[in-house]
Amino acid sequence: MTPKRTGSTLISGFMNALKPSSKLEVPTQGPYSKSFAGSSTFLPTTSLLGKVAVVTGSSRSTGAAVARCLGEHGASVVVNYVTDSAAADAVVLAIRSQGKGGAIAVKANTSTVEGGLFLLDEAIKTFGRIDILVLNAGVMGSRSLGEVDEAFFDAHFETNVKVPLFMCKRAAEVMPSPGGRIVLFSNSLTAASTVLPNALCYLATKGAVEQISRVLAKDLGARGITVNTISPGPIDTPLFREGKSQHVIDGIAKQTPSRRLGEPDDVAPIVAFLVSEAGHWVNGQNIRVDGGYVV
Ligand SMILES: NC(=O)c1ccc[n+]([C@@H]2O[C@H](COP(=O)([O-])OP(=O)(O)OC[C@H]3O[C@@H](n4cnc5c(N)ncnc54)[C@H](OP(=O)(O)O)[C@@H]3O)[C@@H](O)[C@H]2O)c1
Repeated sequence: MTPKRTGSTLISGFMNALKPSSKLEVPTQGPYSKSFAGSSTFLPTTSLLGKVAVVTGSSRSTGAAVARCLGEHGASVVVNYVTDSAAADAVVLAIRSQGKGGAIAVKANTSTVEGGLFLLDEAIKTFGRIDILVLNAGVMGSRSLGEVDEAFFDAHFETNVKVPLFMCKRAAEVMPSPGGRIVLFSNSLTAASTVLPNALCYLATKGAVEQISRVLAKDLGARGITVNTISPGPIDTPLFREGKSQHVIDGIAKQTPSRRLGEPDDVAPIVAFLVSEAGHWVNGQNIRVDGGYVV
C-alpha cells in the first residue's frame, strides 16, 4: 500500500532534496567539451527550404555560424561582410555546397542606415524576397564614463541600435505576413550583476535592442511576424577577445558552469529554431544562450 504523504513528510522530503548529495554535486573540474560537433539541430534539415535569410556581419564569428546553420536547413542566405571578402566567400561556398538554398556575399557597412538598406535591397534584387532578418553585427567598445565622448557613444548607437531598427522597418515592409522572422542580438550581461564600468555604452545599446524587440513583437506580431532577441554570453570571437589578456579570458570562462567560453556554433541552432515554423509561437522573447553564465 502506498504510504499516505502528510504535509510533514512532504516538507521533509523537500528538505532532503536540498541536502548536498554526491549525485547532485556540480563538477568543479572542467571544462567539459561540447557534446556535438557542427551546428545541426533537431529540426529537419529541409525546414527552411524556400526561405531567404539576411544575416548582418556573417563572414566570420557568430554571424557566419548562423548563416551556415540556416543554409544547412535549406535557406538561401545573404552573407554580409565589410572587410573580409575571402571569409564571406568561404561561407557562401559552404552554403552552396549543401545543394539546398543559394547564397551570395554582399559588402555593406551596417554601421550606416544607407549600408543596412543597401544590404536588404541586394537581397531582394537577387532572391526576390526576405523571410528572415538576423541583426547580428555589432560593435563593443570598452570605455567608462570619464573616457566616453560623443563619437564613441554615437558609433555604438548607430551600429547596434539605429541601423537594426531601420533595417527592421524596411524588412517588415516586404516580409511575408504571416511568416516573417526577425532576430536581434543582445548580450546576457544586461541581466548580470558583474558588469564592469567600461561596458557602459555597449550595454546601453543592448538594453535598447531588447526593448525594441519587445515592442516590435507586439507591433509586427499583429501581422504574424515574430521578433525575438538572442543574448549570448561570452563567445570566443575576435570581438570578445579584443583588449583582454588570456588571464582575464580564462577567468571569464571559469564563470560558466561548464568552465568554457561559448562558441558560435552553440548559438546558431537556437536562431535556426526561432526562424523556423517550429518557432512560430515564440515572440517577443529574450533568449539567453550562455551555458548558464547568467542565471
Ligand atoms: N562575442 C561575444 O562574447 C558576444 C557576447 C554577447 C553578445 N554578442 C553579440 O553577438 C553579435 C556578434 O558578435 P561576434 O562576437 O560574433 O562579433 P565579431 O567577431 O565582431 O563579428 C565579426 C563579423 O561582423 C562583421 N562586421 C563587423 N562590423 C561590420 C559592419 N559595420 N558591417 C557589416 N559587417 C560587419 C565582420 O565582417 P568582416 O569579416 O568583413 O570584418 C564579421 O563578419 C554582436 O551583436 C555582439 O554584440 C557577442
